[in-house]
Amino acid sequence: MTEHFDVYGGARLTGEVAVVGAKNSVLKLMAAALLAEGTTTITNCPTILDVPLMADVLRSVGCEVAIDGDLVTITTPAELSHHADTSAMGKLRASVCVLGPLVGRLKRAVVALPGGDAIGSRPLDMHQNGLRKLGATSEIAHGCVVAEADGLHGAQIWLDFPSVGATENILMAAVLAKGTTVIDNAAREPEIIDLCRMLQQMGAHIEGAGTSTLTVHGVDELRPTTHRVIGDRIVGATWAFAAATTRGDITVRGVDPHHLDLVLEKLRLAGAEITTFNDSEDQGFRIVQHDRPIAVDFVTLPYPGFATDLQPFAVALSAISDGTSMITENVYEARFRFIDEMVRLGADARTDGHHAVVRGVEKLSSAPVWASDIRAGAGLVLAGLCAEGITEVWDVFHIDRGYPYFVENLNRLGGHIERVSSVTERG
Ligand code: EPZ
Repeated sequence: MTEHFDVYGGARLTGEVAVVGAKNSVLKLMAAALLAEGTTTITNCPTILDVPLMADVLRSVGCEVAIDGDLVTITTPAELSHHADTSAMGKLRASVCVLGPLVGRLKRAVVALPGGDAIGSRPLDMHQNGLRKLGATSEIAHGCVVAEADGLHGAQIWLDFPSVGATENILMAAVLAKGTTVIDNAAREPEIIDLCRMLQQMGAHIEGAGTSTLTVHGVDELRPTTHRVIGDRIVGATWAFAAATTRGDITVRGVDPHHLDLVLEKLRLAGAEITTFNDSEDQGFRIVQHDRPIAVDFVTLPYPGFATDLQPFAVALSAISDGTSMITENVYEARFRFIDEMVRLGADARTDGHHAVVRGVEKLSSAPVWASDIRAGAGLVLAGLCAEGITEVWDVFHIDRGYPYFVENLNRLGGHIERVSSVTERG
């Protein structure tokens, strides 16, 4: 049995939508629970496929995990297995984030190489080099990362690139190392700050969260905690692009608008009217797009740059904008595969290396298209909403990995999308 979405073109999305916790935070917070014996509780978790997959990864090393709506409870035993090699490992990238905590706590780990989106080469060299600096050996053997240490010690670590995953793994190993670790050129994503906050609540000593220099003073042990996941800025931004692309009017709640400063500025340049609100009770923004969007350029970079995860939405918006946009992808070389699908929908787009030129057309036209990753899938749905006819989006399991109640939310906002099950795959 396979599923696809029928996306009916011509909708103008209007109304309110609530954003819950960030996928790219919760999965790492779940891994962090390995660092402390006892029961850790994580709230505001999204109902997405990756959460139960990560739960399976944690169970494979001995944790008990319960998922109840937006609540995930992880009970970590005194004795953990150092061997994380279950089929779930190969289904998501974040599974590799158990490496740092296992090495930190057990001083050894055998962790199956992760899976995840096909968006380009995703090596682990920076993860491994960081662990080596902390005193561990690390090699790839039989499809696993194998790391071992007599003891971990603090170190000065320079990352070649502010990698999110490498920063997280090194951080989670360093919190239990002896002495002080400094990670330079660390990632500054809000999800890293969220992880630092949870680790601090667990008793870790970390300075510089949200800057490119993280200083970690190792402690002997950590304690479990209760933590609320930050709102998903990538999902929040998806709704912002949904409004801009369909000339809609959407109020998005549950996400810190500061995490989207650059995104919202780009959409203002495209002609959107945006107001933000940010107090202890209510966080979010309202975006209204009255006229055809004006073409703007986008350049992806690590945070606070424009997120690579939003590049498909930038392409979808540019495809129907007035004028020509240049989109530059600096993080993942294969992320422009999405453009081939946009061309099926009538987009006037071409790529050259890590640049794409998109000349806006008045209207797209429906076609069957294939999602190659989470964001590409959501981007095709947005494009389908502005295409004449019914666009079939295939391989929608990708979308289910990252977007809770995507179809339901789109339909509540006035879209018309149907999830269709069939026995045979289209291809
Ligand atoms: C995280 O992946 C996110 N995934 C990705 O989101 C996101 O696109 C990416 O960060 C960048 O923001 C999760 O958090 C689960 P990186 P991650 O390490 O940590 C290179 C989504 O749609 N690199 O920051 O794997 C790498 O090849 C997903 O939600 C090395 O060369 O990303 C890439 O070019 C897709 N060696 C760049 O760094 C390494 O050891 C950034 O990767 C590690 C990374």
